Amino acid sequence: MNILVTGGAGYIGSHTAIALLEAKHSVIIADNLCNSSSGTIRKIESITGKKVTFYEMDVTVEEAVESLFKTHSIDAVIHFAGLKSVGESVEKPLNYYSNNMISTLNLAKMCLKYGVNRFVFSSSATVYGDNIVPFEESMNLLPATNPYGETKVMCERILTDLAHANPAFSVSLLRYFNPIGAHESGLIGEVPNGVPNNLMPYITQVAKGKLAKLRVFGNDYPTADGTGLRDYIHVVDLAEGHVAALENLIEGVHTHNLGTGNGTSVLELVNAFEEANRIHVPYEVVGRRPGDIAVCYADVSKAARELGWKAKRNINDMCRDAWRFEVHNGTGKTT
Ligand SMILES: NC(=O)c1ccc[n+]([C@@H]2O[C@H](COP(=O)([O-])OP(=O)(O)OC[C@H]3O[C@@H](n4cnc5c(N)ncnc54)[C@H](O)[C@@H]3O)[C@@H](O)[C@H]2O)c1
Repeated sequence: MNILVTGGAGYIGSHTAIALLEAKHSVIIADNLCNSSSGTIRKIESITGKKVTFYEMDVTVEEAVESLFKTHSIDAVIHFAGLKSVGESVEKPLNYYSNNMISTLNLAKMCLKYGVNRFVFSSSATVYGDNIVPFEESMNLLPATNPYGETKVMCERILTDLAHANPAFSVSLLRYFNPIGAHESGLIGEVPNGVPNNLMPYITQVAKGKLAKLRVFGNDYPTADGTGLRDYIHVVDLAEGHVAALENLIEGVHTHNLGTGNGTSVLELVNAFEEANRIHVPYEVVGRRPGDIAVCYADVSKAARELGWKAKRNINDMCRDAWRFEVHNGTGKTT
């Protein structure tokens, strides 16, 4: 298939582009590089030995999106492009609503206009809010506690309504848990802006000496060691989940959790990182961070049953690969 990957220069999109190319699909990437760099496109090509068609463009600009659909015969869209920082979305809600909603509306509109019937959307476990674990796809979505989460819920609803109104239009809503790690080549991975919001890049930057200490937000949660529990998934497993979702996409709307089904606490992840890489990560416990929930992990049985997909890599692989990327590429913006 000829696949339009929006946000394909970013963290998850670049790993997915590799998985798609390895599965013999063709990839067109559209990315405005607001949180990535064009060097990643060259890295995708050097890892796979295949060409990628790249457009530096903003997918909130309707004419630009339309010209892409006119120029290429597109079989499917995987829509990663979006802003993703929960904290920033609280400070700048309009940026989040306009970027994340308008991009999705533009792409969906062009899919209908040009007869592109396969759409895969990057959603998030954040749509479950503080439900009871494990999170199942059939659960009612709770109101999100931040604008970022709202954009994910709203985009899911728009795409669902569209598929109901247009029976030929197939939609895959993929709810990611916590992607970490990097490609085993060490060439691409996650490079956050400023002090990381997410745990693994924070750990790798402390290990590298860029930051003095890891801040652990709260050790009084109702978990075994008191720190928050998350379902970490290797980004390459997540990427492979997209290939499975796309290749098994049939008419209608299909929602799948992409996680491992296991919860790992903050301190367990720190210990696993220290053991995997034989490096010390100093930390201090500080107060809880507003908006964080205690426990979040997936029921992954639906993805296994319907997509024949299951995460294969373990916490040790995630820690080793994240560190390899930090050591080789930890300076500058490489995704
Ligand atoms: N990383 C996570 O933990 C996580 C979890 C759940 C869901 N998601 C979702 O997955 C998607 C990808 O996340 P990521 O971690 O790879 O983020 P990322 O920031 O690394 O990648 C997003 C890419 O989209 C591009 N982009 C943003 N707005 C654009 C626009 N208007 N036009 C063109 N390009 C644009 C950015 O330049 C970037 O390359 C996002 O939609 C995010 O909300 C991420």
